[in-house]
Amino acid sequence: MRIEEHPILKFKREKEIYFYYNGKKLKAYEGETIASALYANGVKVFSRSKKGRARGFFCGIGKCSSCLMKVDGIPNIRTCITPVREGMIVEDNDKEISNLGYENGKVKKISCEIAVVGAGPAGMSSAIEVSNYVDVLLIDENPHVGGQLIKQTHKFFGSKEEGAGTRGIEIANELRKEIEERRIRLLRNTSVIGYYDRGYKFLSAVNKLDKILYEIEAKRIIFATGAQENMLLFEGNDLPGVYGAGGVQTLMNVYGVRPGKKGVIVGAGNVGLILAYQVLQAGVGVACIIEAMDKIGGYFVHAAKVRRCGVPIYTRHSIKEAYGREEVEGVIIAELNDKWEFIEGSEKKIDCDFVCIAVGLTPSSRILSQTGAEIRFINEAGGWVALHNEYMETTKEGIYVAGDLSNIEEASTAIIEGKIAGLACANSIRKIDDFEEKFKKYSSQLRIFREGYFGERARKAKEKIISGYYEKMGKRRVSGVE
Ligand code: FES
Repeated sequence: MRIEEHPILKFKREKEIYFYYNGKKLKAYEGETIASALYANGVKVFSRSKKGRARGFFCGIGKCSSCLMKVDGIPNIRTCITPVREGMIVEDNDKEISNLGYENGKVKKISCEIAVVGAGPAGMSSAIEVSNYVDVLLIDENPHVGGQLIKQTHKFFGSKEEGAGTRGIEIANELRKEIEERRIRLLRNTSVIGYYDRGYKFLSAVNKLDKILYEIEAKRIIFATGAQENMLLFEGNDLPGVYGAGGVQTLMNVYGVRPGKKGVIVGAGNVGLILAYQVLQAGVGVACIIEAMDKIGGYFVHAAKVRRCGVPIYTRHSIKEAYGREEVEGVIIAELNDKWEFIEGSEKKIDCDFVCIAVGLTPSSRILSQTGAEIRFINEAGGWVALHNEYMETTKEGIYVAGDLSNIEEASTAIIEGKIAGLACANSIRKIDDFEEKFKKYSSQLRIFREGYFGERARKAKEKIISGYYEKMGKRRVSGVE
């Protein structure tokens, strides 16, 4: 299952180690997650539902709980974001939540001026900006920083400053190096699980494997927790082998493991089209791409590339069923009528062993919602988002947001929003001399990204979010949306 040859990526495997899966000794490499090591060993079923249905992995980024297993005696570990270690004991999850294994856990208290939650493009750029002025702590639940950028092998559009013409993985690398060079404090493998207002801002966070509970006191917090994949309703959507697009990218592009032999991609937006090409680059087949809309949603250039490779794209089609005993063995797709119903008799049976769902993202606002910041459902933003002003501050003083959490967009806009949030947040603690100048520069970069036809949805979303903020706060708005 491991990818040995790739046109773009080189997989440098680290030290060979061994771990135990349900008593069986398996090989892995240091630095990879438990889930990717299991996949590389051909294990796709990670646990079972109460009714005994097989469960695999879906999102690959710690957002869906589909990959929970018992690790070194601790139940409910998200194996997709937990690094495998020498001698680790990995078992099917307990059906009941029993002993959490924290009897000998440590509590560590940390204080900082600004805490940034999430080390994707928005969080990293926030932390870098903040570090120019005040003390910052960056927290992420993944073993690697970089968020979704670390799996993006395609080159970005836009302005040079935000990495146009550069691959996402290279942008992530640059940001990571800067975090290291600036010696920004970083907690990895650490999930923020609670926010409390104790007269000061307080976060509790946990590193499950090392059994550490962090109590973090901060003057201000920037949330940059990104987004999660949307799911589709169809029969068999819980079978191992049904993945979110990002899950497949993680397996292939981060850990160099093939998701299967041949897949079907659901969704012909940019993510679905780019993913199809990446699957082919990994030496894996793509049976077809299906799209419920009349037209392909992504850029022509991406669609042309996959078509040239012989991948058919069926518009006005959706998935009716994924079938298989313990994992995906094939799917049934069918055409849709004007009422979005399947047309009887149009079904096609497609041979495949995995399905990638690429039907959009939803902002991950669960932890943010604990702060009491006003959250509204805004369709154009992709779901529930916090109202915020031009400086990315929410209706809760001292709580800022940036990136996909505040509206589903590109990594480039997430980076700029991160800078704005970082700048404004730091300025609220210590006045920055050239604040206005920098703010104007970042805002105009954002405006350029959101120009034209493809920026229309983002402009509408931000207009609703910012005008909603002023309405809620009963304040007069002085500027338009940048
Ligand atoms: S949380 Fe691990 S696959 Fe989603």
